[in-house]
Amino acid sequence: MSFLKTYLPKASRLFCAAVLLLLFAVNGFGQNRTVADFDKGWHFHLGNVDNGEKTSLNDAGWRSLNLPHDWSIEGKFSKDNPATPEGGALPGGIGWYRKTFTVPAASKNKLVYIDFDGVYQKSDVWINGHHLGFRPNGYISFRYELTPYLNFGGTNTIAVKVDNSVQPNSRWYSGSGIYRNVWLVTTNKAAIDHWGTYITTPEVSKSSATVSITTKVTAAKSIGQNWVGIETTIYDAAGLAVGNLYTHRGTGKDGNIDLSAEVPATINQTIAIKTPKLWSTDSPYLYKAVTKIYLLGYDAFKDLADVNTTKFGIRYFNFFADKGFSLNGKPMKILGVCNHHDLGSLGAAINTRALERQLQILKAMGCNGIRTSHNPPAPELLDLCDKMGFIVMDEAFDCWEWKKAEYDYHLYFKEWHKRDLEDQILRDRNHPSVMIWSVGNEIPQQSDTSALRLAPELAGIVHSLDTTRPITTANDNPGKNNKIIQSGAIDLVGYNYHEFDYAGFHDRYPGKKFIATETTSGLETRGHYDMPSDSVRVWPARWDKPFTDGNPDNTVSAYDNVRPAWGSTHEATWKVMKKYDFLSGMFIWTGFDYLGEPTPYKWPSRSSFFGIVDLAGFPKDVYYMYQSEWTDKAVLHIFPHWNWQPGKMVDVWAYYNHADEVELFLNGKSLGVKKKTGDDLHIMWRVKYEPGTLKAVSRKDGKVVLTREIHTAGKPAKIELIADRKNIKADGKDLSFITVKILDKDGNLVPDADNLVNFKIDGGAFIASVDNGDENSHDSFKVNYRKAFNGLALAIVQAKEKAGSVTFIATSKGLPSAKITLQLK
Ligand code: GAL
Repeated sequence: MSFLKTYLPKASRLFCAAVLLLLFAVNGFGQNRTVADFDKGWHFHLGNVDNGEKTSLNDAGWRSLNLPHDWSIEGKFSKDNPATPEGGALPGGIGWYRKTFTVPAASKNKLVYIDFDGVYQKSDVWINGHHLGFRPNGYISFRYELTPYLNFGGTNTIAVKVDNSVQPNSRWYSGSGIYRNVWLVTTNKAAIDHWGTYITTPEVSKSSATVSITTKVTAAKSIGQNWVGIETTIYDAAGLAVGNLYTHRGTGKDGNIDLSAEVPATINQTIAIKTPKLWSTDSPYLYKAVTKIYLLGYDAFKDLADVNTTKFGIRYFNFFADKGFSLNGKPMKILGVCNHHDLGSLGAAINTRALERQLQILKAMGCNGIRTSHNPPAPELLDLCDKMGFIVMDEAFDCWEWKKAEYDYHLYFKEWHKRDLEDQILRDRNHPSVMIWSVGNEIPQQSDTSALRLAPELAGIVHSLDTTRPITTANDNPGKNNKIIQSGAIDLVGYNYHEFDYAGFHDRYPGKKFIATETTSGLETRGHYDMPSDSVRVWPARWDKPFTDGNPDNTVSAYDNVRPAWGSTHEATWKVMKKYDFLSGMFIWTGFDYLGEPTPYKWPSRSSFFGIVDLAGFPKDVYYMYQSEWTDKAVLHIFPHWNWQPGKMVDVWAYYNHADEVELFLNGKSLGVKKKTGDDLHIMWRVKYEPGTLKAVSRKDGKVVLTREIHTAGKPAKIELIADRKNIKADGKDLSFITVKILDKDGNLVPDADNLVNFKIDGGAFIASVDNGDENSHDSFKVNYRKAFNGLALAIVQAKEKAGSVTFIATSKGLPSAKITLQLK
């Protein structure tokens, strides 16, 4: 209440303070704005419905479900689905969602909105039969105001038509439906606008930081008030208030905001924070700004109208032409990955825990960056990146006016790009994790003069809303004739692939700043190994020619030695990236396998082989190469498995760090000591196979650092279940990821086991999906069984809303059953 002191005379101050306390006691701050989870209790119909928006329509026979929902992931794989295997080979179609809800009569004087975080795609929304709007972009977040059409004190029907029938409209799996969260937002008539808070930190030093807060407030004429005031308080992560400012500004009496205007008023505030704790990838420290809007009478405080909380971070970063990237003055490289938005067997349906698990797996590898290829992400991803310390390249488009897929966004670009791009920037610009805006991936128009018009236009849209982050495009042809780069509108020159060209970057672009927007595209099947390993396979050798050289079972060797014509092995790009300071960082294609784009194979493959981690979340071997390079953790990883035909020559690789050498033993006999030399990232022994124990010992200065053993496995004898979390929340959303391992009698993973495992669950949880990471499987993800793939399977258990214990049982013919107990709290 410090503002009272500054702005009002003493008598009024005492009066106001009393009223204020009373109001706080009666109302509480939080009730001025409610943001309600609107995911529950929807009805769904797959297929078109005539007049599906009509209030009178009886939808009692429709399926009941909770959002987020992706109907495609529930369907059957077929090469004939219009998405094609490129799009994941799952069905699309039209779907209708309806929800009936009541709005209290007491809300009559409020404004009510519905916020969709993302609907794929071409959504139409109606409230009580009134059409609210159409959004073609499947990745954009949008809001509609419901107020004028609501029955306050009565029932209301919201209807959403989702049209993903016209395909192919994507080069990867999109999913279909209301696949992100939906919120019902209620505010007073004087309130902060949607995405109306913008926080930047223009000056940051050790001793202080300037926090600049811009707030847009709209106040409806009808409320009969004349003034508003705005107070922002900044809290540190411990909840201590570290800065506060109350502001009267605008065109009304005494400089307050003029409520006679229906247009938003913009209020700028600047608050200094002493000895700020900086946000970094190692220490992602977050502050929060709580903004309060007060309605004021001419001489007295009247009411608290709105409270909005915005998390932010204090950090500064620079891209340099010669020195690469630095965060808070510290040089570092962005060690990032590209990911598509699907969550493997869960499909596109957003789940915060599933996203968090992906990020935890990547963080443990040493990854510190995420590129949201090639579209705006779910807001939860950015919240997690803020919290966990990832640098985000937030991308808008995969095409502009020229198409990549027949029915993709190029059909809507002209009409919608400005709106969509603005909405993305407005939504995402407070996230400290976001440090690069990308306005396009491999835009076909990069070779055409139209890019000279479009690149500056898009850059202008972004910079009109945020000048604190550089803009890039991900160029697959970063040569001199690239019109996007030529336009001069791009702050960072983005290279996709072409690692062999990095060294010559400044000959081509003197004085320019570099980012490797996309790299590598290495190919691997987890747990599959082809000999020999010391030559590189280019699969496919040409992107435009049919590929016929692969393995008959559509597998790809997991020694990092298979790449497509346009890509590189993981080691090849990382070696160059390490070498030059001016290379600010990289985003590897991809962190996780994703549905669709089954390179190098076509059908019957249905998902990508590019991931460092497979679709189920099991790391492939190359994960440990990065871990040995990117983390401080001591690493010794040896592979492959040790089950071969006697006499076969098998290449044994080791990734290691923190050691000078590694010695390998087979059945106790030394196979020699090896060391990385030059820019080596692994060592290798070629070994004549005999069954038994392979043992590796890493040493530094003669002292043992780590020891690893791999044993020849016998027949499958038991199932092991490992839950990533045994205690989960009974909130209807939380997940436990249960790894299913097929072991021999001595506890060794059976490396080629493909046992069919059945799952049973008792208690307040259900099996959300199952997987095993096999890129070629056509089994449904939405069943209670899965075959192991190279020894492993996964079951994802989702909590219902009742606390208690849950028993998860796995059975498989010929093996004793296994059981694990989870606690829901
Ligand atoms: C890139 C493209 C990605 C993906 C990748 C596969 O050229 O930007 O979306 O298609 O190739 O290697």
